[in-house]
Amino acid sequence: MYILGIETSCDETGVAIFHSERGLISHHLYSQISMHSDYGGVVPELASRDHIRKLVPLIKQTIADSQLENSDIEGIAYTAGPGLMGALLVGATTARSLAWAWQVPAIAVHHMEGHLLAPMLEENPPAFPFVALLVSGGHTLLIRVDGIGQYTQLGESLDDAAGEAFDKTAKMLGLGYPGGPKVSQLAEQGHDRFKFPRPMTDRPGLDFSFSGLKTFTMNTLNKTDKTAQDKADIAYAFQKATSETLTIKCRRALQQTQLKTLVIAGGVSANKQIRADLLKMTQKEKAQLFFPRLEFCTDNGAMIAYAGCQRLLAGQQENLEIFAKPRWPIDLLKSI
Ligand code: KG4
Ligand code: ZN
Repeated sequence: MYILGIETSCDETGVAIFHSERGLISHHLYSQISMHSDYGGVVPELASRDHIRKLVPLIKQTIADSQLENSDIEGIAYTAGPGLMGALLVGATTARSLAWAWQVPAIAVHHMEGHLLAPMLEENPPAFPFVALLVSGGHTLLIRVDGIGQYTQLGESLDDAAGEAFDKTAKMLGLGYPGGPKVSQLAEQGHDRFKFPRPMTDRPGLDFSFSGLKTFTMNTLNKTDKTAQDKADIAYAFQKATSETLTIKCRRALQQTQLKTLVIAGGVSANKQIRADLLKMTQKEKAQLFFPRLEFCTDNGAMIAYAGCQRLLAGQQENLEIFAKPRWPIDLLKSI
């Protein structure tokens, strides 16, 4: 079954074709980062307009690259939420219209389920059940995953998401958008000089809070001369604090659930320090760590095509309604 996947929830237009037996056939991504970087963050209206410009050419290119005809496509998966309403509507209306024209089913995919299942695209995929840490620009979630759609939320951020904290720290340090990769790069020149807090690790539970770290970063920066080395040392301390906080909570989640498999996904899972700290922890816990290849950590069409394919194969059906949901709790999804 050939499935076309469409991702337009934020600032990346992603398109892919996934086949239920042959795997990923082709994929393309257009990033709007350079357009938004002038404004220091994503401008929703500009994002929607750019998705309109780029989506159809990208779909044509992806189908051409796969050497398939439009008539070979047997289903269309699109990100229906969570995300920016205007951006989501571009993907949803395009997917639904194509599905109607081609007389194939279309399926609404939850963006975070896409991230969660992205490691399934790798050669050695994780087996259920597992604990998943989903860390992106909008979400920080710890979930027990017993199967597709069988999600029990164990913890979440009570304020800023981990990616948002990276982005805000980058802004304070005068780095561009998106902040995660830039803070990480600068941290490589930093030394272990400042001690930042590890929020909410001294009390039980699996929730997170990153907004205090942001204030701590600002106060620390204001006490220095703001030299290049000061900034690099702060980037190092911030990254280390975030990474250790995530690692402590993941260890706790593994111990609490007695599971031995941890999956990390979402944009922040591209972070080298976080991957290294989690790897060390899982080795000590005699657990296994799984993550997507770097390009599938951040938003992409492949993860949406994969998730949609699994749901269509399970016989999930939807009517012709154009469905977009900017807020959509992941534990409301149907199990298959
Ligand atoms: O999953 P994603 O592409 O989009 C959302 O669903 O939000 O994640 C984007 C987030 C941004 O906040 C970005 O700064 C962060 O992921 N990010 C990183 C890294 N690469 C991307 N954060 C830390 N280190 C990285 N290497
Ligand atoms: Zn995402």
